[in-house]
Amino acid sequence: MHNSVAILDFGSQYAQLIARRVREAQVYCELFPWDAPSEEILAIRPKAFILSGGPASVYEPGAPHIQPFVLDSGLPILGICYGMQALTHALGGQVDPSAHREYGYATIELLTPSILSVLSQVWMSHGDRITRMPEGFVALAKSGNSPYAAIGDMQRKYFCVQFHPEVNHTPNGAQVIKHFVVDICGITPDWTPASIIDESVERIRGQVGEERVLAAVSGGVDSSVAAALVHRAVGDGLVAVFVDTGLMRKDEPAQVISAFREMLGVELVAVDAAGEFFAALRGVVDPEQKRRIVGEKFIRVFERQAQALGQPPGLTPALGTSSSAGTGVPGVRHAGGTKPPVQPPAQPRFLVQGTIYPDVVESSAPDRNKAERIKTHHNVGGLPDDMQFELVEPLRYLFKDEVRAVGEALGLPLAMVWRQPFPGPGLTVRCLGEVTPERVERLRAADAILTEELFAAGMLGEGGSTSASPGGGSTSASPGGGAASQAFAVLLPVRSVGVMGDQRTYQEACAIRAVASDDFMTADWVRLPYDVLAKVANRIVNEVHGINRVVYDITSKPPATIEWE
Ligand code: XMP
Repeated sequence: MHNSVAILDFGSQYAQLIARRVREAQVYCELFPWDAPSEEILAIRPKAFILSGGPASVYEPGAPHIQPFVLDSGLPILGICYGMQALTHALGGQVDPSAHREYGYATIELLTPSILSVLSQVWMSHGDRITRMPEGFVALAKSGNSPYAAIGDMQRKYFCVQFHPEVNHTPNGAQVIKHFVVDICGITPDWTPASIIDESVERIRGQVGEERVLAAVSGGVDSSVAAALVHRAVGDGLVAVFVDTGLMRKDEPAQVISAFREMLGVELVAVDAAGEFFAALRGVVDPEQKRRIVGEKFIRVFERQAQALGQPPGLTPALGTSSSAGTGVPGVRHAGGTKPPVQPPAQPRFLVQGTIYPDVVESSAPDRNKAERIKTHHNVGGLPDDMQFELVEPLRYLFKDEVRAVGEALGLPLAMVWRQPFPGPGLTVRCLGEVTPERVERLRAADAILTEELFAAGMLGEGGSTSASPGGGSTSASPGGGAASQAFAVLLPVRSVGVMGDQRTYQEACAIRAVASDDFMTADWVRLPYDVLAKVANRIVNEVHGINRVVYDITSKPPATIEWE
């Protein structure tokens, strides 16, 4: 069990950022909805609490409040924005609506030496403010609009700030959070890639014992690191299964197969299920339905695979469309060309999933987040209810940069660890309108040209990453400028008239998306140089049959999302 901090989420859009800052200080933390049961929160044995901001006002009926056990614990507390107001209110201070909403940059004046000494400019976003401090508190800082921009009770180690130290707009804000958890609370920073690996290995062994485990590998960072962790834990007990959905990028299936065989030494079973996926997607144009279909198909293919792997050759159920290469199991080809097992071991009961912490947090956050389901990410929302596997989710508590740091520490190839994100439903959600083999091939060809040209122009780093330091979250790409964190083509179900070699064409349009982002929660479009755009457009129209027009997507997230569906 790690030294840890519990972050209580009062509905802040920045709650995950607080968690990332704490993790960057190499201290383990978890986010909980403000009203989560005390047993659940205390189970991580926190050594401090951080209270997030939130959109409510403390006097509103039903406003989120601090549960009594938090104050009774006697542990240090850092209250941020609404968290400050809730703590003030709970301890008998006064909170009132401010005459002016304070939003954006503000300069604070330090009044008392404290953990805030590294700050001057801060990011404010609040309506209410403190007008009387609770007993035992002193003012630590004021701003033009807040006489109590920060207050503290040194005895009880309670610190409250009206501003947001967790956002990049507060220079040195991360240091304040680190100072609070490490120096004030005395928490040992022991959350490192090596300790994460040790702990995960132990947890995986505890969960699966001697049983066999199936890993669903897609070549993405998450599923690869998850499989590598499980391989470290159970060795030959792992069977990695790669489902070729027919919805991957150019050359990807071959890369995945060789990386797993050569780098990890894992035996990989490859299933060619493209025909099955296309059949299920026939006639479907609704984005959510596409996602659900792909998510469900994935699981069904794995279930069948597990059955097939657990039964003697000849007794296996028919596996549908995939091709067989002499394993005795219809539809299964062993990538390694290994012989079929004579006495297959028991059917795997466990399935590895690369679910990461932001997915988990988003599906359990307070109402503000829950109310808005923007997309069904298939590795969380779209699993069928009657699924027969027990899930092994070794990355469930890790942020993306932590996943990458662990991947590197496990010795995975850098190209895999730093690969740009690719959605679980694959090219389906980039092929707007009906998903047919022909249209996907068209999209794949356009996408490959884009990637090639951006890479050649130095506009897409290895894997398109912007995050430089493991666990660090620092970025090299400035929003809008610099390199893209993610870039891809989108095929639009729109035809337009063109002319090629004196001939009229009436073909589809392709959109290009290139974004810079720290965390993919927000993103800005990259100002790609015109000559790069020109080359990409020229090559796509000339080389890809069926596309006669290229457009560039210049929307940030929000209001758009990164993917189009
Ligand atoms: P959006 O489109 O929601 O995407 O702005 C944010 C990031 O998530 C990726 N993405 C997915 N990742 N399963 C995943 O694991 C999915 O279903 C999925 N859909 C989108 C997207 O590429 C972007 O990086």
